[in-house]
Amino acid sequence: MSRIYLSPPHMGEQERRLLLEAFDSNWIAPLGPHVDAFERELAERVAMPHAAALSSGTAALHLALHLLGVGVGDEVLVSTLTFAASVNPIVYQGATPVLIDSEERTWNMDPDLLEEELAACAARGKLPKAVIVVDLYGQCANFDRIVPICARYEVPIIEDAAEALGSTWRGRPAGSFGTFGVFSFNGNKIITTSGGGMLVSGRADLIERARFLATQARDPAPHYEHSTVGHNYRLSNLLAAVGRGQLQVLDERVARRRENFRRYAEAFAEVDGISMMPVAEEGEPNCWLTCLSIDAAQFGASNEQVRERLAAENIEARPVWKPMHLQPVFRHCRVRGGAVAKRLFAGGLCLPSGSSLTDDDRERVVAAVLSVREMRTVA
Ligand SMILES: Cc1ncc(COP(=O)(O)O)c(C=O)c1O
Repeated sequence: MSRIYLSPPHMGEQERRLLLEAFDSNWIAPLGPHVDAFERELAERVAMPHAAALSSGTAALHLALHLLGVGVGDEVLVSTLTFAASVNPIVYQGATPVLIDSEERTWNMDPDLLEEELAACAARGKLPKAVIVVDLYGQCANFDRIVPICARYEVPIIEDAAEALGSTWRGRPAGSFGTFGVFSFNGNKIITTSGGGMLVSGRADLIERARFLATQARDPAPHYEHSTVGHNYRLSNLLAAVGRGQLQVLDERVARRRENFRRYAEAFAEVDGISMMPVAEEGEPNCWLTCLSIDAAQFGASNEQVRERLAAENIEARPVWKPMHLQPVFRHCRVRGGAVAKRLFAGGLCLPSGSSLTDDDRERVVAAVLSVREMRTVA
C-alpha cells in the first residue's frame, strides 16, 4: 500500500517554471527579483503593507522579538499549545517565556487567562515585552478579545500565523492582527518553498530594519561596516520563485484542505468518542491539518492506538502538539492554566490533510480509523 503522508508538498507546473527561470537568470542568491515580488505579493494577500522574505518562520519570529527590543531579563507571553519554534526565539534573545493555556473553542490562547496574566504582571510592575499569539492548525485565535486586551496594557502582539496562511477571522486575514505577523513555508505547510518564512507588518520602518538585520546588519559603506550584530536570515531568490508559484494556487490549496476537514467531519459525525477540532463561527480556518479529539473510553481505543494502527497501514498521523509547559526544556517557565492544552494533547490526533490527498486516500484513512474500534468490538 502506498504511503499517505500527513501534509506533503504539493507543487505544480508554474512553480517549476518560475524556479527554472530564476535559475537561468543566475539570481542564485538571498536577494533578487523574485524575493522582492514574493514580498509584495504575500503582503497584498494578507493585507499587511510590508513584508520581509526570510529563511524560516523561526527566523521571522526571532527578528520580530529583536525589533521589539526583547532582551535579557524580559518576559514574553506565548501560547503553550504550539510547536517549539513559537517559543525558542524568546530564549535566543535571553528572555523568558511565560506560557498561556488554550481556550476550548479555538484551541488557541485563552483571552481570559491572557488578561489575568497581564493584570498580574502589571500589579508586579513588570509587563511583558510582547505577546506571541499562535493561530493553531490554521485557525485564528480570538482576536476580538486579544487585540483590545493587549492594547490596554500597550503590549505588542506578534501573530504566529505560520500554520494559518489563507485563514481569516471576521474576514480579516491571519497574520494581520499584530505589530508583526509571521508565516512559514516549511515543507509541511499549506504552501511551501521547502524552507522559508515571511515577516509582515504595518510599519515600513520595522520591515526595513528586519531586512537590514537579516543580511548581517551591513551598514551603508563600500567596505564591510557593522555597528550592530545581525543574522543571515534572507530567503533565496530560487525559493522565492517557488513561493510565488505556490501563492498563485493558495486558494485552491485552502479549498482542498477545507474539503478534507468537511469530509472527515462527515465520516466521523455519528461516531461516539470522536470530535473534530472546533471551528469558531467568527473565522474561516485554512484547515491546514484536520485534528480530532478521541475519547478513548467512548471510542474504544486511544489516540495513540489509532495512530499506531494508521502507521501499520502506512498512513502518517501525528499527535497534537505537546504543550510547551510539559516539555522538559520549558519546565521552569511560569504557566497560567495548562489543563486544557494537556487534555487536548492527551486525546488529540492530526490526520493526513494534504491538498494532494485523493478521495480514495482519505477514505482509506477513515476506514483505518474506524477499523481500530471494530477490531476492539470483535475482541
Ligand atoms: C506554529 C508554528 N510556529 C513557527 C513555526 C516555524 O516555522 P519554520 O519551520 O519555517 O521555522 C512553525 C512550523 O514549522 C509552526 O508550526
